Amino acid sequence: MKRYEKFADEIADLIRTGVLAPGEKVPSVRHASRTYGVSPSTVFQAYYLLEDRGLIHARPRSGYFVREHAQSPLHEPEISSRQAQTTEVDVSELVFSVLGSLKDPNTVPFGSAFPSPHLFPLARLARSMAQSIRHMSPHEVISDMTGGNPNLLRQLALRYMVSGVMLSPDELVITSGAMEALNLCLQAVTSPGDLVAIEAPAFYATLQVLERLKLKAVEIPVHPREGIDLDTLADSLARLPIKACWCMSSLQNPLGASMSEEKKRALYALIQRHQVPLIEDDVYAELYFGTQPPKSVKSFDRDGLVMHCSSFSKSLAPGYRVGWVAGGRYAEQISRLKLMTTISPSVPAQAALADYLQHGGYDRHLRKLRHALEAQQGSMLASAARHFPASTRVTHPTGGYFLWFEFPEQVDSLKLFQLALAQGISLAPGPIFSATRRFGNCARLNYGHPWDAQSEQAMAVLGQIIGSF
Ligand SMILES: Cc1ncc(COP(=O)(O)O)c(C=O)c1O
Repeated sequence: MKRYEKFADEIADLIRTGVLAPGEKVPSVRHASRTYGVSPSTVFQAYYLLEDRGLIHARPRSGYFVREHAQSPLHEPEISSRQAQTTEVDVSELVFSVLGSLKDPNTVPFGSAFPSPHLFPLARLARSMAQSIRHMSPHEVISDMTGGNPNLLRQLALRYMVSGVMLSPDELVITSGAMEALNLCLQAVTSPGDLVAIEAPAFYATLQVLERLKLKAVEIPVHPREGIDLDTLADSLARLPIKACWCMSSLQNPLGASMSEEKKRALYALIQRHQVPLIEDDVYAELYFGTQPPKSVKSFDRDGLVMHCSSFSKSLAPGYRVGWVAGGRYAEQISRLKLMTTISPSVPAQAALADYLQHGGYDRHLRKLRHALEAQQGSMLASAARHFPASTRVTHPTGGYFLWFEFPEQVDSLKLFQLALAQGISLAPGPIFSATRRFGNCARLNYGHPWDAQSEQAMAVLGQIIGSF
C-alpha cells in the first residue's frame, strides 16, 4: 500500500469513528504534514483520494471539510438473537414474488441485487471479447469446456497469490457464476435431510438452494458489523450433526458485515476442529472501501476444508456468468458434478474475461468502482437520516452496495414492499433473507446506482410510507 493510501485510511477511520465530525475541518496540509511526518504531496494525494471517496470536500480558500453525510446519525442495528434455529426451508414462493416485481426498468432499483451497469467497463470488455474470439483456436472451442480456459485459471491463481493464498490452478473450477459454484459445493458435501449451518439473515438464494436440495437450515445469527456469531456456531457444531457451514466472511449479504482477521482465523479453527467443510461465499470481496483488501477464511485453510466461491458478477461483468470455486479437497468432486450438469460456462465469455484480466486494467476499474460506491453509500445514509424516522437503525458497511435498515417495530416490510412498488420503488423486504421469515420490520436497500434527484425523491416517499405504519 502506498503511503498516501495508508494516510487516507487513517483519516477515513477518524471520520467513521466520529473523531472528525461532519462539517469539521480536516487538518490543513501544512499541519498534517508536520504532525504526521509525511510530505505535503502525500497529504494532498490522500485528500484527493478521500474527496474521490466522498468523505471530504474542498471549500475554496478554506481547506478540506468532512462531508455532511460521511457519518450517519442513525444508529446501527443490534444482533437480533443469539439462538440457533433449525428448520425446513420453504421460501421460494416469497422470493420469486419479490424478485418478479423488480423487472420493470422504470422502477427505482433499491431492491436490485446488482450495481448500476453504467459502473462497469462494458465497452472495454466487448473489445476483449472480440479480440479473444478472433484468436481462439478451433481446439480451444472444445477443450476449454472441460478444463476451463487455462489463461483465466492462471489469472485467477495469480490474483489469489497476490492476496496471500497459494493455490494451484488444479484446485480451481470455473462455473456459471458463483451461484453454480455454491450449488455444486453444497451438493458435493451433503445428502437430502442433512443439516447445514447458514447465516441469519442470509442471501435469499442460499435458502433456495437448501430448499431445492432438501437440506435443513441451522440459522446462526449474524452481528451487523462483526459477522456470524461464533459462540452460537460453536455450540451448534458441538450439539448437532451439521454437514457443512455456508457463510460470507466479508461484506455479508444483506448486512454488509465483515469479520475481523482474528475472527476468520477462529472460524477456520472451529471448522477444522469439527472437520466440517466451509462454503465461503465471497462475491463482494473486491468491493471493500479503503485500501486494504479483506482476507478470506480460505487464506487460513491448511487442509483443503474451505470451498471459496466468487465471480465477476458484482464487480465487472454481470451477465457473462463466469464464476469459480477454489474447491480444496473437494475440487475433483465439484468438477465432476459440474460436468454431469452444465458441463461448462460459455467458452468465449471465459476467454474474454481472461483477456480483460490480462490487459484491461481490472484493478484500475475496481478502484474507481469502490470510490463511486463509497460516495453513493454516503448519499443514501444522508438521505435516510433526512427522510426516515429517527429511531430507524441502519448498517454502516465498509464496502459493497447494500444497506440493511431496521425500521420501528410496527413497520411490516412486506407491506412496505407492496406500497413502495405501487409508487415505482423496489426494495428487498427482510423476510426473504430468513428461513423462519424473521426480520419483518427490516429491508435491504441497494445504493449501487449513481445518486440523483429521483433517488432522493424515492427515499422521501419511502419515509412517508414508513411513517404511515
Ligand atoms: C451473496 C451472493 N452470493 C452469490 C450470488 C450469485 O452470484 P452470481 O451472479 O455470480 O451467480 C449473489 C448474487 O446476488 C450474492 O449476492
